Amino acid sequence: MLANQDSSGDDIQGRKADHLRLCLDDAVACEGVTTGLEQYRLRHVCLPEINFSDVNLAVTFLGHSLGAPLLISSMTGGTDLAKTINRRLAQAAQKFRIPMGVGSQRVALEKPDLANTFAIRDVAPDVPLFANLGAVQLNYGCDTRACEKIISLIAADALILHLNPLQEAVQSHGDRNFARLLPKISQLCLELPVPVIVKEVGNGISGEMAAKLLQAGVAAIDVAGAGGTSWAKVEGARGQDWRQQRLGQTFADWGIPTADCLVAIHQQFPTVPLIASGGITHGLDAAKAIALGASLVGLARPLLQAAYESEACLFDLIDILQAEIATALFCTGNPTIPQFQAAACLESVST
Ligand SMILES: Cc1cc2nc3c(=O)[nH]c(=O)nc-3n(C[C@H](O)[C@H](O)[C@H](O)COP(=O)(O)O)c2cc1C
Repeated sequence: MLANQDSSGDDIQGRKADHLRLCLDDAVACEGVTTGLEQYRLRHVCLPEINFSDVNLAVTFLGHSLGAPLLISSMTGGTDLAKTINRRLAQAAQKFRIPMGVGSQRVALEKPDLANTFAIRDVAPDVPLFANLGAVQLNYGCDTRACEKIISLIAADALILHLNPLQEAVQSHGDRNFARLLPKISQLCLELPVPVIVKEVGNGISGEMAAKLLQAGVAAIDVAGAGGTSWAKVEGARGQDWRQQRLGQTFADWGIPTADCLVAIHQQFPTVPLIASGGITHGLDAAKAIALGASLVGLARPLLQAAYESEACLFDLIDILQAEIATALFCTGNPTIPQFQAAACLESVST
């Protein structure tokens, strides 16, 4: 296990250290809301007529060939601990041939000497890496040039813009001017040399919002729905004052469950690359999300906790996630992910 010696504080680096420290604890999980995936079951096939060893999890995403439909969701950077975690996560990405997002790189724009905490391309030379920035920063001085800079910093294959209005609202001194961002996102989509992916951070993206983002030119959507890490709770737990603490607790169940986001978006846009994340902890839920239309399934906090323990612990977790997805494919009689998706083997659990 790593020693968490990064100092806390209210500057951007201290905030990043707080986020890591708090997310190592399960106390920051959403309360009173679930992913909604428990409302579905995969129909069992007692005679699969396939050899388990023929089950193949390979997929393509935005033109990249991947070993499995998994994503290491955007998390960290900006501190010594974050650097170690990022490099462990990147090693896992390379080993399992899955993509990885880094955490918000705003800190690297503001303090260039911290850019090396995101340096992972050397350990993950062959997998897609995704740069990351809060979309709201487009209203606080970040422009196309800044985005190009963070993309080139990790030789990224795409830029992820995250939407986090609740987090910014709970955080004292949060960046809360979310006005007129859509035209700026649209301009970025036109001007950047790589695709733009938009994600939430655990409160979900509705079908209506997805329509607007896709119209703006976004290439893929990561729903990051409710049911997993609650950023209201994380910021509430960081709160030095009663106001921030209370806001965080009040909004602990806020957001659209991950499964509801997937259904709404996939029904309207069946060919759009869709990432399921927010509260996924095992491969059976990952398989259900794939059956609901997700191209990839992202995990954040479970992978952070494993990476903090050790590299071996992280590798074991991704290995079992793959085994769980493969078991779901086998026991529904499907050797590949596209066949599994086409098989319509998901049933709603009647209540
Ligand atoms: C420690 C930590 C830091 C995070 N930082 C970012 C970030 O900088 N940018 C971002 O887009 N999402 C960030 N996230 C959100 C995750 O990418 C993800 O959307 C969210 O935690 C829900 O997934 P989970 O339930 O698997 O944790 C962070 C998550 C964690 C746990």
